[in-house]
Order: sequence, then structure tokens, then C-alpha cells
Amino acid sequence: MINKPVALEALRAATRHAHQRLESELQVARPDANREDYLHYLQDLRGWMLPFDAALWSAAWPAAIQAHERAGKLDWIDCDLRAAGMSQDAIHALPIAGFTPDLSTLPVRFGIAYVIEGAQLGTKVLAKALAPRLVPWTPRWLTGYGESNAKKWRTFVECTESSLKTADAQRIAAMAAADAFASLADWFAQRRQARLDGRLHGGRAGAADARASAESRSQAVT
Ligand code: HEM
Repeated sequence: MINKPVALEALRAATRHAHQRLESELQVARPDANREDYLHYLQDLRGWMLPFDAALWSAAWPAAIQAHERAGKLDWIDCDLRAAGMSQDAIHALPIAGFTPDLSTLPVRFGIAYVIEGAQLGTKVLAKALAPRLVPWTPRWLTGYGESNAKKWRTFVECTESSLKTADAQRIAAMAAADAFASLADWFAQRRQARLDGRLHGGRAGAADARASAESRSQAVT
């Protein structure tokens, strides 16, 4: 039982504004978002997570976190991209961001993991909003940990509190989370611009995106 989640509050305070900004700027969070917006969101999230996700979860963690169970989220994304018709080659050719945080300390790892695990909290809202335009598809990413979603988050918060006891550790974790949000927001903006440029000028990034979209449009989702 957590009385006062001090570490969580530090993480929230450092990232609240960035999260609000993401939610207001992401096309997939808009009421008229469609399947293509969802796929773009996944492609971009994948490109951002790929450089550090495996290293994050294979590092040392308190046993209660059950890091191995949190390590497969890129597989969820790839599962959805494949279901939407993208080939493995097209998935591997997707753009990759350059965010490679120094994961050598536990507070930094908690800060980064907070962003990744927290992202699961929003998926319920996202799933409900997108459902009418994805039917009959139930995407893997939007299912998250399924029935264990709430429990997984509770465990994560409990471990965060018991591991980040000093003000210093909380500050380092909060800074890492804020950096992660900032790099993610930059990456989303960069990708949005690349798609716009591609549409306007038929540029390289746009051509790759157009190929990916055409590939996924031409195949049925199962
Ligand atoms: C795609 C649009 C998104 C929507 C609609 C959304 C929505 C939400 C909602 C409603 C919550 C609160 C859930 C609850 O308290 O039960 C939440 C929490 C959170 N989301 Fe998002 N989110 C989105 C994207 C993201 C992304 C891309 C990230 C980071 C990769 C992210 C990170 C977080 C974090 C860290 C929290 C936890 C906040 C806390 O309780 O401490 N979200 N989101």
C-alpha cells in the first residue's frame, strides 16, 4: 500500500505539461483519427523506442517489476503493423529516432520506464475512441497487458516508490522522464513534417510513407 507516492508525483510534475502537449498535438488523439493515423502513430513510436527498449528491460531491475514481461512492446507494435499489411522488410525500413539515454543508473531507468509504462494508461482511452474506425480489428498495442493493465501499473508505481527514496534519485528520474518526453515530442513533430513534405513535394520520406500506407491499405486486417 502506497501512502504518499512522492517519486510518482515528481515524475508527473516533470512531465505533465509535455504529456498534455503530446495529447493535443497527436493526430491519433483527435476525435476524427482513423486507421492510418493509428498506424503512423505506431510507426513513429516504434522508431523512437527501438534504440533503447531492449537495453532498458535487460538491465538490472527489482525482481517485482518482472522486467521480462514488460520487454515485448515492440513485438506488439510489429504485430499490428503486420496485421495492417506491412511486410517485415517495410517494417525494418521504417525511420528510427536517435534517442539513446544513458541507462546505467536505476533512477534513469525508472524515469524512462515511467514514460513507456505510463503510455499504456492512455491506450484504454485511445482504444475506445478509435474502435469504431478499426472494427473488427482489435490491435495488439491497444490491448496492452489486457486484464493485468491496472495491476502492472500498480506494481510499477510501488517499485518506483521503494526504489527512488532520496530526493536526488527522484530528481534524476524526473529529469530522465522529461528528456524522454521531449525527444518523443520532437520525433513526432519531425515525422509529421516529413509526411507533410512528402505529400507536398513527393520527397523521399513521403515516398517511403506512401509505400507503407499503400502496402497496408491494399491488405485486409485480420
Ligand atoms: C496517443 C494519445 C494519448 C492519449 C489519448 C493518452 C492519454 C492518457 C490518459 C487518459 C492517461 C491517464 C490514465 C489514467 O490515469 O488512468 C495517460 C497517462 C499517461 N500517459 Fe498518455 N496518452 C497518450 C499518449 C501517450 C504517449 C505517446 C506517452 C509516452 C510514450 C504517454 C505517457 C503517459 C504517461 C507516462 C502517463 C502516466 C501519468 C501518471 O499517471 O503518472 N501517453 N495518458
